[in-house]
Amino acid sequence: MKALPILGAGFALLVGSNAASNITNSTAGSLLSSGNVHLGEYQESYEKAKAFVAQLSNSQKVSIITAGDVNGTNFTWTALTNKDAFAGMNNQYYVSGFPMGNALAQTWDRDHMYAEAKASGREFYLMGYNLVNGPVAGPLGRTPWGGRQPEAFSPDPYLSGIAMEHTIKGMNSAGVVTSGRHFLLNEQETNRSTATTTTTSTVYSSNADDKTLHELYLWPFADGTRAGMGAVMCGMTKVNGSLSCENGDLISTLLKEHLGFPGMVFPDVNSQSTSYLSANAGLDYGSSTYWTTEILEAGIANGSFTQARLDDMAIRNVIGYYFAGLDSGKEPSEASTTEYRNVRADHAMLIRKVGADSLSLLKNNKANGGGLPLDKPMVISIFGAHAGPCMAGPNQAFSVEGSSGDTYQGHLASAVGSGQLSFSYLATPYQALSLRAAADGSMFRWLMNDTYTSSSSSSSSSSTTPSTGSDGGATSTNGTAPGGTDSSTGNSSSSMTMGGGAPGGSSSTGGGVGNLGSGTSVTPSFADYATDSDVCLVFLNAFSGEGGDRGELANADQDAMVKTVAENCNNTIVIINTPGPRLVDQWIENDNVTAVVYGGILGQESGNAIVDVLYGDVNPSGKLISTIAKNENDYPVKICYTAECNFTEGVHIDYRYFDANNISVRYPFGHGLSYTTFDYGSASASKSDEKALASKYPTGDMTLGGYADLFDEVVRVSLSVKNTGSVDGSEVVQLYVAYPDAAQQPVRQLRGFEKVAIASGSSSKVVFSVRRRDISYWDVDAQQWAIASGDYTFSVGSSSRDLRSTATLAL
Ligand SMILES: *[C@@H]1O[C@H](CO)[C@@H](O)[C@H](O)[C@H]1NC(C)=O
Ligand SMILES: *[C@@H]1O[C@H](CO)[C@@H](O)[C@H](O)[C@H]1NC(C)=O
Ligand SMILES: *[C@@H]1O[C@H](CO)[C@@H](O)[C@H](O)[C@H]1NC(C)=O
Ligand SMILES: *[C@@H]1O[C@H](CO)[C@@H](O)[C@H](O)[C@H]1NC(C)=O
Ligand SMILES: *[C@@H]1O[C@H](CO)[C@@H](O)[C@H](O)[C@H]1NC(C)=O
Ligand SMILES: *[C@@H]1O[C@H](CO)[C@@H](O)[C@H](O)[C@H]1NC(C)=O
Ligand SMILES: *[C@@H]1O[C@H](CO)[C@@H](O)[C@H](O)[C@H]1NC(C)=O
Ligand SMILES: *[C@@H]1O[C@H](CO)[C@@H](O)[C@H](O)[C@H]1NC(C)=O
Ligand SMILES: *[C@@H]1O[C@H](CO)[C@@H](O)[C@H](O)[C@H]1NC(C)=O
Ligand SMILES: *[C@@H]1O[C@H](CO)[C@@H](O)[C@H](O)[C@H]1NC(C)=O
Ligand SMILES: *[C@@H]1O[C@H](CO)[C@@H](O)[C@H](O)[C@H]1NC(C)=O
Ligand SMILES: *[C@@H]1O[C@H](CO)[C@@H](O)[C@H](O)[C@H]1NC(C)=O
Repeated sequence: MKALPILGAGFALLVGSNAASNITNSTAGSLLSSGNVHLGEYQESYEKAKAFVAQLSNSQKVSIITAGDVNGTNFTWTALTNKDAFAGMNNQYYVSGFPMGNALAQTWDRDHMYAEAKASGREFYLMGYNLVNGPVAGPLGRTPWGGRQPEAFSPDPYLSGIAMEHTIKGMNSAGVVTSGRHFLLNEQETNRSTATTTTTSTVYSSNADDKTLHELYLWPFADGTRAGMGAVMCGMTKVNGSLSCENGDLISTLLKEHLGFPGMVFPDVNSQSTSYLSANAGLDYGSSTYWTTEILEAGIANGSFTQARLDDMAIRNVIGYYFAGLDSGKEPSEASTTEYRNVRADHAMLIRKVGADSLSLLKNNKANGGGLPLDKPMVISIFGAHAGPCMAGPNQAFSVEGSSGDTYQGHLASAVGSGQLSFSYLATPYQALSLRAAADGSMFRWLMNDTYTSSSSSSSSSSTTPSTGSDGGATSTNGTAPGGTDSSTGNSSSSMTMGGGAPGGSSSTGGGVGNLGSGTSVTPSFADYATDSDVCLVFLNAFSGEGGDRGELANADQDAMVKTVAENCNNTIVIINTPGPRLVDQWIENDNVTAVVYGGILGQESGNAIVDVLYGDVNPSGKLISTIAKNENDYPVKICYTAECNFTEGVHIDYRYFDANNISVRYPFGHGLSYTTFDYGSASASKSDEKALASKYPTGDMTLGGYADLFDEVVRVSLSVKNTGSVDGSEVVQLYVAYPDAAQQPVRQLRGFEKVAIASGSSSKVVFSVRRRDISYWDVDAQQWAIASGDYTFSVGSSSRDLRSTATLAL
């Protein structure tokens, strides 16, 4: 194919025109028939789709774009069957619940992204669903309070883009059509719709400037388009004052022209309100109320609409079907929601592996035998509702109105709303730990409530020290066990006298065997259980999902629980599963908190995955996908309550903001420890394509995802990394790029990562292939990606603030 000159006639005219003021014209260049985009791997599907649509009458085309079937004389079309969620199917029996988007991203593992999406996509396919409403790159993660963050990947567009690429390829390989959602700037749930039963709010408008749009929010959708995404779901919210699904700048100009998206744009619930405006803006699939043959043909007759656009809509509706190979005739019929089909294969193993590999070890102090991994501890106590099953389960009640609270009173392994997983079972930490304890011969006990206080006895141990007295010696014995406990349950005289009966801090907790001697009749309290334990595992969650934002980034009850446990247990280990950033500053500096394991929402094998890491069967290798600040107020963007939500922070969200303002954080983006240690060699950077670098702008074909050469390697950075510890492990080696000032970029940005498994004592060479796009900024005047001239700094590190080696290149 012949290369189009950059800023070729068609393209320049279109981006230069004020698209919104001339609706019909705004879409002209976005028609597939315009030939503006070299369709690459979509070309063959386009030819098939075009040939198919050419046989149709207008009413048959209208049927296709409004979810109808077509019965022609020698052809038929059956509407695509779509289903919510990505990490599993919404509301379906006998399917798997995979780690959600935020956990998958936290693996930083391209193979896992592909494998999970392929396995999940396969379940959709076998259940007879061919259009998956996912993956999610919007919300990107502008605000940490955003309720829908567990479905999405990361506020970093590069990481999110890589996740889009590999999940879409994985799902495509399973024979289903993928739909990136939500397009675009749908960054919070509050006031997203007027249709909720609980509010009468105005749908907010997200207003972001052109540079921010391209450099941040649009970026992952470019990766998705390049990877073969067949559909895009536009959001419920407005952008620049127009509904996203009726915004020509957004859909036709940005998505279809700038990104060359060849597929179908379809609306989220209640997101279409007009006939011609929506169709002209680029919505391809919609309501049969707004789009009847009569209305659309009248529009064609009087110039409000065009035949070319109607044809384009029909083609875009069927192109993904051909691309996914659904014309093979082998597609299974649609299963009912309770029908048994054998779709799960060995996915449970993958779910457990991905879950374990997603967990980040934030802190680990192994002094005095504390911390992780656990080594057959004798007395294990677990705390918090998140440790065990909810009272009724495994599935939560379905809701698109937000979650029932900021924490979940049971083990949280799914978010709510259209991202909600369907569990046929749920492995909790309680279950997995019970089995471990039994195998190791440990003493295992639990107090699975975040706020429990004994009705019969107050905490007895916060001010006591273990008895140093003689065997069984109690210094303050009250043989009358409170709360009706039969003291005869004590299995020795010492344990019986230790039965937690003593009030208020005066009793001994020590028995005959060092710190372990309170017997089995100890009164349950955080303090009592903590005191007597070799290890205290405290489980915390934060709950959110579609329809409601988070009310807090830390929970006072749960933090009080951690503090009480830690005051009494010098080996307190905190495990967190959360939709987004969960602050830890209430207790993180307490030396008795020896380790923290932090993860996203892990799916049906959650408990097993966590326990694999706790016991060292899996060496943790997950890295943070967003920053954990010290205080809530440190984050730049809260929930917006006004009708106009101006993205005044521009590209400065998450670490881009903290770095620009030199704010200290608790744990930086990209952080995560291992049970081993890694040494970084020195990085070297070289130009891999001098000729390409000589051009400020791309010179290639306009193709899926943007100009083709944006994706060509121009710089190569390499170094060697050594595993200097005693166990094998994987490290996510990260590349951050600092641009010359003229590019007006954040202090540094993630522009590469490689997850490498390195055996103890071995070294691995790590090579980053830096693409033109990765060193370009969006030139607003030229409406192009541009390379700035000057010095670029390539820093390689273990997190965004643990940079180990740096190389500079003048470009
Ligand atoms: C759109 O704009 C062009 C160029 O300004 C103009 O010629 C044309 O009449 C406009 N079309 C409509 C439908 O307003
Ligand atoms: C806009 O549309 C009108 C009517 O279809 C057409 O005559 C005109 O050439 C178009 N203008 C541009 C700039 O594409
Ligand atoms: C198409 O034909 C099938 C089988 O004859 C029938 O069940 C279905 O209702 C028809 N659909 C339409 C849209 O006419
Ligand atoms: C359907 O029949 C028409 C008329 O014979 C023909 O032109 C067309 O190619 C056929 N379509 C298919 C899909 O066979
Ligand atoms: C947004 O939602 C909040 C809380 O529901 C409400 O108080 C506020 O009025 C809404 N804002 C608008 C602009 O509707
Ligand atoms: C929204 O408006 C801003 C400011 O005028 C502009 O930079 C941006 O490109 C617009 N976005 C869209 C999608 O039209
Ligand atoms: C075109 O026809 C439609 C349907 O009757 C009508 O709603 C619309 O206002 C007309 N537009 C023009 C420009 O006449
Ligand atoms: C906890 O305290 C006990 C008793 O003093 C001691 O043996 C143990 O090493 C301590 N553990 C840690 C992790 O500090
Ligand atoms: C947790 O304990 C508190 C206080 O004892 C009690 O009110 C609450 O019902 C318990 N929660 C559950 C889920 O059992
Ligand atoms: C023993 O404990 C019970 C229950 O707290 C209390 O009623 C009783 O007075 C105590 N007896 C002594 C001797 O302290
Ligand atoms: C740590 O735990 C021990 C009990 O093992 C307790 O005595 C000490 O006060 C705790 N320290 C802190 C800072 O909470
Ligand atoms: C958003 O920006 C617009 C245009 O600059 C301004 O009129 C409006 O007051 C701003 N809204 C808020 C809530 O800041």
